[in-house]
Amino acid sequence: MLQGKNVVLGVTGGIAAYKACEIISGLKKIGANIDVIMTKSATEFITPYTFQSLTGNSVIVNMFESPKYWDMEHISLAQKSDILLIAPATANIIGKVAAGIADDMLSTTIMASNKPVVFAPAMNTKMYENPVVQKNMETLMARGYHIIPPKGGMLACGDEGQGKLQEVSIILDELQNIYRQELQTEKNDLEGLRFLVTAGPTREIIDPVRFLSNHSTGKMGYEIAKAIVKRGGAVKLISGPSSLQAPQGIEVVSVETAEEMFEAVKEAYPQCDVLIKSAAVSDYRPKIREAQKVKKESQEGEIQLTLVRNPDILLEMGKIKEPGKIHVGFAAETENIIEQGKDKIQRKNLDFIVANDVTEEGAGFAHDTNIVYFIDKNGDWDKTEKVEKSAVAHDILDKVLSKKKSQTL
Ligand code: CTP
Repeated sequence: MLQGKNVVLGVTGGIAAYKACEIISGLKKIGANIDVIMTKSATEFITPYTFQSLTGNSVIVNMFESPKYWDMEHISLAQKSDILLIAPATANIIGKVAAGIADDMLSTTIMASNKPVVFAPAMNTKMYENPVVQKNMETLMARGYHIIPPKGGMLACGDEGQGKLQEVSIILDELQNIYRQELQTEKNDLEGLRFLVTAGPTREIIDPVRFLSNHSTGKMGYEIAKAIVKRGGAVKLISGPSSLQAPQGIEVVSVETAEEMFEAVKEAYPQCDVLIKSAAVSDYRPKIREAQKVKKESQEGEIQLTLVRNPDILLEMGKIKEPGKIHVGFAAETENIIEQGKDKIQRKNLDFIVANDVTEEGAGFAHDTNIVYFIDKNGDWDKTEKVEKSAVAHDILDKVLSKKKSQTL
């Protein structure tokens, strides 16, 4: 995928800077051309000559200290590159790009690039977990940058936790996945298709201060919506409560309960060609919605909460499915995934289902990654590796597109 392509590798100042050598060897094996840009602090950990020898290209360090390591024109690398990888990416470069600061060769090149930019962070666990860093990463992702999350383990500083640069083999696989997705994006292959996507949890109200809900963050649905827009499709996103920022260009309808989601889906359905129901809808709601806060003083010992069934939105929409429309369901399972998936396809009149085993490491709620089974209505199925949810989103859209094409044959 990256054979013959130009990869710009940004190396920033962290103990994992030496791992960039392994990344370069991997990229060379794939057949990519690599240009390295180092920050000044990266040169405290490894010298530019190492990268120069490994890549066969001169290495850029500073915009103004030419011509020591720099014999190329300012910005030219941003134009020449097919993809940018920042590995290791420190909290500093992540913060700078999130804030729009371009004060050295690497941050300037990132800012001037319209190519995919991928960050592979590596830093001390406490820094990584710092809400400021987390927020900056969210900002980057909302703006279309990619993050390959670090792995957990014993860090160089002796702390234990997440913050180690991801395995080089995983970084290389992800880089190729992201590049492939970006190629699809350029095709505008979803132009003319209108999608209705649901995302997030629902909240079922007990009283004015309490509700029943689940762990869904909405990430999968938001990634699907983002991918649709990138590929030229139109999307309406019906979202339960989520802290995610709605991506630009997407019409969002915010709902709270399953019943509200059902109403919003029914209203928008006639204007869609494809329904993707990634929301984690509560199957039950409290029978009574108390108008006032339930006080414990009036209830000695145990209390009972009676729940009634919510509408199964996907099942109800399946009953009135319009010819030519495609319905995609999701399933979060803990066992017998394929059998349960096939059963849901039948019951809910789906074209295919995206099922995941929430007990698998790196899958399901609140992860940036997912491992899913695509189960078709004819019973065929396949399983993805652990990949970013954005990659799963594109795989789902590829499948929708091939279903659409087979309808017109
Ligand atoms: N779904 C829905 N309305 C509901 C419950 C689920 O539209 N009240 C949709 C979800 O958005 C998802 C699919 O149905 O696309 C599967 O949801 P899931 O809860 O896994 O399956 P259920 O059919 O509810 O079965 P069970 O909870 O017994 O596994």
